[in-house]
Amino acid sequence: MPQDPPLYFRLHVFVCTNRRPDGHRRGSCAAGGSERLRDYLKSRARELGVEGVRINSAGCLDRCELGPVMVVYPEGVWYAVHTPADIDEILETHLVKGGRVGRLMLGPGDQPVLTA
Ligand code: FES
Repeated sequence: MPQDPPLYFRLHVFVCTNRRPDGHRRGSCAAGGSERLRDYLKSRARELGVEGVRINSAGCLDRCELGPVMVVYPEGVWYAVHTPADIDEILETHLVKGGRVGRLMLGPGDQPVLTA
């Protein structure tokens, strides 16, 4: 089997910006402000001169109830983000320094908190 080529981007970040109609039972990341958070992430990464990181909008990543969500590859680390401060922490800790922001990470079995 041939070897995988080297990474084209050091990190590739996908921010869900899917929008569903108001009242949809699954909600959507855009309804939770993901477009604004994506714009903030892109602009702060540019201001800080972060290299090798591509930030893209994504369609629904199928974790809508936990959103807004984003995922960082190649690690496959998922985050739920709600504020610009969350973005700043992920940017500095993960995208620049290679660490993890545990308080915002989603595990494979994480489920939304259901309310009555
Ligand atoms: S709407 Fe964002 S994960 Fe589905």
